[in-house]
Amino acid sequence: MKFLVEHTDVTRTAADAVIVNLFEGVTVPGGATGAVDAALDGAITKLIAQGDIRGKSGEVTIIHTFGKLPSPRVVVAGLGKRDAFDLDAVRNLGANLARALRKPGISTLATIAHGAGIGGLAAGPAAQALAEGFLLGNYRFLKHKAKDDDRTEIASVTLVESDAAKVGQFTASAARGVLLADAANLARDLANAPSNHLTPSDLAACAADVAKENGLEIEVLERADMERKGMGSLLSVAKGSAQPPKLVRLSYRGRGGEGYDLALVGKGITFDTGGISIKPAANMEAMKADMTGAASVIAALGAIAKLAPKVNVVGIAPCTENMPGGNASKPGDVVSAMNGRTIEIINTDAEGRLVLADALCWAKELGAANIVDVATLTGAVTTALGDVAYGLMTNNDAFCSKLEAAAAEAGEKTWRLPMWKEYDEYIKSDVADCKNSASRGAGTIVGAKFLEPFVGDTPWVHMDIAGVDMMSADKGWVSKGASGYSVRAMINLAVAMGQA
Ligand code: BES
Ligand code: MN
Ligand code: ZN
Repeated sequence: MKFLVEHTDVTRTAADAVIVNLFEGVTVPGGATGAVDAALDGAITKLIAQGDIRGKSGEVTIIHTFGKLPSPRVVVAGLGKRDAFDLDAVRNLGANLARALRKPGISTLATIAHGAGIGGLAAGPAAQALAEGFLLGNYRFLKHKAKDDDRTEIASVTLVESDAAKVGQFTASAARGVLLADAANLARDLANAPSNHLTPSDLAACAADVAKENGLEIEVLERADMERKGMGSLLSVAKGSAQPPKLVRLSYRGRGGEGYDLALVGKGITFDTGGISIKPAANMEAMKADMTGAASVIAALGAIAKLAPKVNVVGIAPCTENMPGGNASKPGDVVSAMNGRTIEIINTDAEGRLVLADALCWAKELGAANIVDVATLTGAVTTALGDVAYGLMTNNDAFCSKLEAAAAEAGEKTWRLPMWKEYDEYIKSDVADCKNSASRGAGTIVGAKFLEPFVGDTPWVHMDIAGVDMMSADKGWVSKGASGYSVRAMINLAVAMGQA
């Protein structure tokens, strides 16, 4: 789907359908909707009077124009109540329209900038949110479906604006929306990929493609490199798998110079069986997406390079399978991370924190001034927050506030969980410096508490996205299957840090 901007009028464009809108409670439409209504001899006003169009949020009405307009169809999109209409609503509107209008006979769409007129939203952000919404809502994962499956696609959406003075800003903002949505959709493709189609080596190869396309520096540590660096924690997870582990580094240097203002570290378990502490069969297939953190970081780095903020950002993705087998780690094993900290492995299914431990040590060694890690770390975060928000845990309130703002800008809900020192007791081991799992509740916090010593006093936020990475149904900008959560939040954070 292409998203374009054109200086023209909805009453003059010949797209297969032109989209106007209506707020709930409006009986006589104005603006572009009014102009279209006049061309249709008051058809929209009549449909409102009849009660067919009410302007409710999510309402999509298709009216055939039979030659009264250059376009054969007018679509009236309900915007809901005016005081509840915001940029999140625009994004979800675009996504819902992309799905509702994917029909035979409709290939090109033209739309006005919903919310930028009487909606009172800032023009640029409204255009960006609309482009994001259309591209995010249009997403499907069809790679492994029969070719004769429903392949109806909308070829293009054109944002039309009659005021020449606004066209430049709309064009730039829409391009930004496309860029952000493309990044989220790349992460979705990787997370949706079955583990036999996306091994750690495949994921590293994808990172190399992103690096090449965006002029990023890439380094991939092999098993022998990790051994040399003393990454015994990461390697303990990889031991059970026939697939070699890969530790990916992507570097973007927007301000030049040494070190990094921000490290983005993403869990890359391309399949999590649980290892010797094996998972039950039910829903285990979802564990193909246990590399969502890594996919999100790789996709975010590509987008950050394209947006070119004046910050240095390093993306780190520890990639491996977590498999049982004759060589796999066993409960009770003690391993040593890169910083020398020893870990008693109580549960081999708590593998995410083991690979992140060494990745976080490496981020510090590389000179990261701030660290964000993103991981499908605990089932417990679903118990706490469901599929509505992801958990944030931090050692630095000010830095966490920046990420919260970046996530809100992306339309992603977050919620902080406490990091009180009382929880430190939970990960104490009798035989090592710490253990990787406890059985006293607060599972999500325990995951963060395990990670905390590996970042030391570097400002750090841990994002536990295990409740939102895979969705059971389409909902607004969120797609069924891999959702794309966290990608745009991290991009927004890097951009905001570049402006500070
Ligand atoms: N990848 C899982 C967490 C997960 C669960 C992600 C469900 C998405 C959906 C993680 O590696 C895991 O197994 N965590 C354990 C930790 C426990 C053993 C301390 C869990 O949550 O049960
Ligand atoms: Mn696990
Ligand atoms: Zn896992």
